Amino acid sequence: MHKIFYPTLLILLLGGTSFAQTVTMRAAPQDDAPTISRHIYGHFAEHLGRCIYGGFYVGDTSNIPNREGVRLDVVAALRDLKIPNLRWPGGCFADTYHWKDGIGPKEDRPSILNVWWGNVKEDNSFGTNEFLNMCELLDTEPYLSANVGSGTPQEFADWIKYTNHPAGTSPMPSLRAEYGREEPWKVKYWGIGNEAWGCGGNMRPEYYADLYRRFATYASDWNNTDGIYKIASGASGGDYNWTKVLMENIPKNLIDAIALHHYSVIDWGNKGSAKEFTEEQYFATMAEALKMEEFVAKHVAIMDEHDPEKKVDLFVDEWGGWYDVEPGTNEGFLYQQNTMRDAMIAGTTLNIFNNHADRVKMANLAQAVNVLQAVILTEGEKMLLTPTYHVMKMYAVHHDATLIPLEFESPTYTHDGESLPAISASASRDSSGNVHISLVNIDAGKAHTIELDVAALNLGSLTGEILTSAALQDHNTFERPDHVKTAPFTGATLRNGKISLELAPFTLVVLKAGE
Ligand code: AHR
Repeated sequence: MHKIFYPTLLILLLGGTSFAQTVTMRAAPQDDAPTISRHIYGHFAEHLGRCIYGGFYVGDTSNIPNREGVRLDVVAALRDLKIPNLRWPGGCFADTYHWKDGIGPKEDRPSILNVWWGNVKEDNSFGTNEFLNMCELLDTEPYLSANVGSGTPQEFADWIKYTNHPAGTSPMPSLRAEYGREEPWKVKYWGIGNEAWGCGGNMRPEYYADLYRRFATYASDWNNTDGIYKIASGASGGDYNWTKVLMENIPKNLIDAIALHHYSVIDWGNKGSAKEFTEEQYFATMAEALKMEEFVAKHVAIMDEHDPEKKVDLFVDEWGGWYDVEPGTNEGFLYQQNTMRDAMIAGTTLNIFNNHADRVKMANLAQAVNVLQAVILTEGEKMLLTPTYHVMKMYAVHHDATLIPLEFESPTYTHDGESLPAISASASRDSSGNVHISLVNIDAGKAHTIELDVAALNLGSLTGEILTSAALQDHNTFERPDHVKTAPFTGATLRNGKISLELAPFTLVVLKAGE
């Protein structure tokens, strides 16, 4: 057993025996507790496989109900999730994307090859206008990833003018008006490159820092009148030197956030099936997912050293589980099923982000539809919601709520002589005074009893919602779309300032307690 304390919730791999036991937790409200930004619950849509084409966009001649080609079933499901932002157009695709290919009359748009993802034809029928209009339909904030790897500062600056400047002020906004959109969309979030250490240009951090400074300079004017929020391409996992070099070399007036990417992959050469896996593979996936705690804590420590006032945010703008593609599907399309294992990844990862809400201000699950750890899968006109969707929906109660730090000692989940913390948790109070506590037991075999001291919170009523299933491998199919779903949870009691409940194996519960 080991101690877990906010804010340095250490994920340790310890040996020892796992046995069901009582976990004692204490809610420790803090005067200066941060707000959990709703943007932590963000999503990502790349021109990859069937994410955009077939997933979001079917074209306006499709029989699938759509508005200007965008699927209305997907829009309704994502609006229900209250998705706060959507990152586009990549990913690796972004650093080969020239946005001017995707504007104007569709018949005049050039086709290109999507070299990163299956070498398939990209006809550019879904471009800037289509994406930004779709964000309005979704009621979500766009986050655009600009091409640094193979683009120019001029192309970047032109894109900002096209999307943000009033018509008539320069050629780009006038072009926008000519293409049917008079009012600018006013895009705030701009990524300057993606994975610059890899598909975004294979750069050294020193070189990227200089290039970033050059691109960032042309985003706006001296005073950043356009209010552009600039995000630097960040490290992969534990590459702390990347963050250090960027923090040392980019002036604070040119940067608002640094990104971080981490995927839960067992072995890049043998990722394993998304839905047929052993406990050993499950344990290994969770070990990878829980590394997020260490990565975030250590990148934050470096940022704290160079920016103690926390002016620069950390955006984990790609995260999630990554397995082999579903048999018979295109290797380059990254289409995978989504099981209770993915629900465990989502629940624990979102708790980590909540608990680091003072620096983690945005995160983007990869990816929204039909790619990697998707919240939605489609097949022709059919659509299903994955277990990860349900987690995101249960956790939406934390959007813009005030963090309530939790202190507790987690029992271990032990497999084959290695251990992980079995219990993950986070809590917050929303603007109506309701307290929400999200609890996850990742243990594949043991239930754990939780005793949460909430005396300091003055709580009355208690309700809850649960996501659980008979097997870790359970998932939703187009034939059985509701196999894994949420249900009301009545197994918790609140007595004398203490909440008690039992958390079954691989189960997730979100409690709501009112005053
Ligand atoms: O999400 C899939 C890919 O993973 C993205 O394009 C890239 O940024 C990352 O390597």
